[in-house]
Amino acid sequence: MTSRSSSSEGAALSLSARGLAVTAGGARILSGVNLCFLAGELVALLGPSGSGKSTLLRALNGFRPGEGRVRLSGRDLYQDFEALKTGIGFVPQDDVLHTSLTVDKALTYAARLRLPADAGLERISGAVTAVLREVGLVERRTVRVRNLSGGQRKRVSVAMELLSHPPLLFLDEPTSGQDPALEGQMMALFRRLTGPERITVVTTHVLASLDEVDLAVMLAAGRLVYVGPPDGAPDFFGARDLPAVYRALAEGDAARFARRLEASSLYREHVLDRLEPGR
Ligand SMILES: Nc1ncnc2c1ncn2[C@@H]1O[C@H](COP(=O)(O)OP(=O)(O)OP(=O)(O)O)[C@@H](O)[C@H]1O
Ligand SMILES: [Mg+2]
Repeated sequence: MTSRSSSSEGAALSLSARGLAVTAGGARILSGVNLCFLAGELVALLGPSGSGKSTLLRALNGFRPGEGRVRLSGRDLYQDFEALKTGIGFVPQDDVLHTSLTVDKALTYAARLRLPADAGLERISGAVTAVLREVGLVERRTVRVRNLSGGQRKRVSVAMELLSHPPLLFLDEPTSGQDPALEGQMMALFRRLTGPERITVVTTHVLASLDEVDLAVMLAAGRLVYVGPPDGAPDFFGARDLPAVYRALAEGDAARFARRLEASSLYREHVLDRLEPGR
């Protein structure tokens, strides 16, 4: 049947990583990451520029596999990538759109590629309208993509990924370069899009819009240094607020932070107990 059944059949939706590491240009840019996300979760991936967020995102969605193991609902993502990838939506940091097409044309083109080959015009146009409605762009459907605002363009990219109803949705800095009100709206949109049968992972530098987020994952120098509720991070680092956490990360030793996390109850609750329920 559709992509949805191929990735979630049998087991409940989950995404887990064990001992995830990435080496590039002779350097370790991601080390020893263990994580587990559950159905219905909106996850924010945080950390200073160059800390490895995009690298982790690509390793978690199989577009740039790392060492270690990633499982999607129990199945080995790297081994079964061809079968599982239709259940994965991914909007990269530097997404590419056909900017001379209208929103309608761009999405129709994408729908032809993504829907079954025998899908008729009516089904295609229905699918396009449905995703436009989901991202709030119905009124802009006749506008050329290049004439949209940055935020609207990002929403077209999101709409394209929604065409195949992926249970996993990855967005790399979808809110960058947008005004603060729009950033908040985008986060609210991702919250809405994350129904009970989806996991959404978003990298972001925007710290003001994390209220909607279930789980914050923070990296520093390629290491996992925090996992838990977003508003728990300042306390964990003994900082006043999230910007102060970033300053602490910039000055501190990432390996030491990572060890402290691994010894914490946050790590037990949000990583170990999830990876091995009933331990
Ligand atoms: N192919 C590569 N070869 C060498 N180094 C790389 C490669 N890809 C990434 N890196 C390095 O790995 C580190 C992490 O990069 P990554 O793009 O994951 O960071 P990021 O947290 O997403 O940063 P930003 O917030 O700026 O997007 C950076 O120092 C980057 O230069
Ligand atoms: Mg990045």
